[in-house]
Amino acid sequence: MEYWTSQEGDSRQPAGLPADWPSATPVGPVPGIGNAALNLTDRSLRDMTSGPETCYRVRGGNPLQGTVFVQGAKNAALKMIAASLLAPKGRTVLRNVPVIEDVRRAVELAQAVGAVVKFHEAERTLVVDASHLTSSVLPAEITRRFRASVLFVPALLHRLGEATIEGIGGCNLGSRNLDFHYRGFARLGATVEEGENQIHVKGGNLRGAHLYLDTPSHTGTENLIMAASLAPGTTVIDNTALEPEVLDVIAFLTKMGAQITGGGTGFVTVHGVSELAAVEHTVMADRIDAAVFAMAAAITGGELSLVGASLDHFGVVRWKLEQMGVEFASQGAILQVRQERQLRPINVITSPYPGFATDLQSPIMAVSCLADGTSYIRETIFDGRYNLVGELTKMGAKIEVAGNAVLVHGPAALKGTEVIAHDLRTGIALVLAGLAAEGETIVAPGYPIDRGHVSVAARLTTLGADISAEPLG
Ligand code: EPU
Repeated sequence: MEYWTSQEGDSRQPAGLPADWPSATPVGPVPGIGNAALNLTDRSLRDMTSGPETCYRVRGGNPLQGTVFVQGAKNAALKMIAASLLAPKGRTVLRNVPVIEDVRRAVELAQAVGAVVKFHEAERTLVVDASHLTSSVLPAEITRRFRASVLFVPALLHRLGEATIEGIGGCNLGSRNLDFHYRGFARLGATVEEGENQIHVKGGNLRGAHLYLDTPSHTGTENLIMAASLAPGTTVIDNTALEPEVLDVIAFLTKMGAQITGGGTGFVTVHGVSELAAVEHTVMADRIDAAVFAMAAAITGGELSLVGASLDHFGVVRWKLEQMGVEFASQGAILQVRQERQLRPINVITSPYPGFATDLQSPIMAVSCLADGTSYIRETIFDGRYNLVGELTKMGAKIEVAGNAVLVHGPAALKGTEVIAHDLRTGIALVLAGLAAEGETIVAPGYPIDRGHVSVAARLTTLGADISAEPLG
């Protein structure tokens, strides 16, 4: 089999983005926004409630070998569940839905507003009947655990004329960051009122408008396309996101009858239609899950066959891994990945697709601990994504935060210890580190990891890893 390898040598590249990019730029007053000034302070993940107390126990040292099945894409499936509520009759069938906690929360949210939803987990198939929506309230007990709740607003606006998101308010319109969504709804004719503990959006008669995003927001693009799909007239959205999941969501909405052009160009046009239909769709593979398993091969010096992975969806991630010495080969629809040589250091600057995915910044930081030399990593999408530094340091990594970047001095001999999964991607990165560490690593809580990755312990065990998911304590 022929593997693709990168050229030897220094992979360092000049920093290309302004230091303050992409802070949310407040736009001028928008008719319909009820609050005088949007608070743009950060809201991090700290107010997210967690699930049952579990942990992952990893004993490192085994090179991974074998075949792994890449899950369906979380960041496409969640949007499709919300979009299926736009159909006023019939049943939507979604296949290849990942069995993860975030999907379970999305199902609960759809049920809370009256949709009849059956998640056939063994078949990874979701059936949604949204014929009778009964409530416009997205309740706090779910919205506190599920950040993508705002995706349900377009369906509630079109079907019931209003939507109330409980449990968030105040600074929640600020950074991390939903202001593009609310400003977009307002430009389409909705009224947005921010209360003490809830946001109320009213507007049964949305109309097409010219919208723009200050930065190409992934969910913002999808949400505004959904809102525009049933709004009479033409909506043009400037500076839209290019992520493969956005294109999959557009494909799903198009099957439903939406008229959308320009996906993947940065400028999307939507001609509003009068009704959308329930359809069947297979969710694309999860490129983040695929890349995490590629990195699992890299960090353990293993060789894996990834079923369902597409290198085309890796964007810059592919080239960065190749520069580190990871080898890829396509065998028909299977992607082979192996790591045989000493890992080389890397320069990574996260940016919107096809740039280096922010969701893989933590995993590549873990991998770069094993590289021979100093790696440079800079996060530009989300603040609060250097929480991993302290945890990897506990494991013996040598990492310094230098201004808004991180320098990882490798190779380090990682040692297992107890570490904290501050969020989903920190969590899975610590599992990767644990796979390469001497002794036992306990990653807790397990819930953030289960929010986004299917059966992590079972899939890694099949590949030869020594890992278990256990109750904490
Ligand atoms: N932003 C704003 N205002 C907004 C929306 C975004 O200022 O109204 C800012 C954000 O604060 C951030 C940047 O724009 O600095 C990009 O955010 P984006 O809206 O693109 O992120 P998102 O749509 O909220 C999705 C994924 C994230 C992934 C990002 C970037 C879903 C459900 N979430 O978030 O996934 O990191 O795009 O690709 O699709 C994850 O899976 O772990 C995860 C966090």
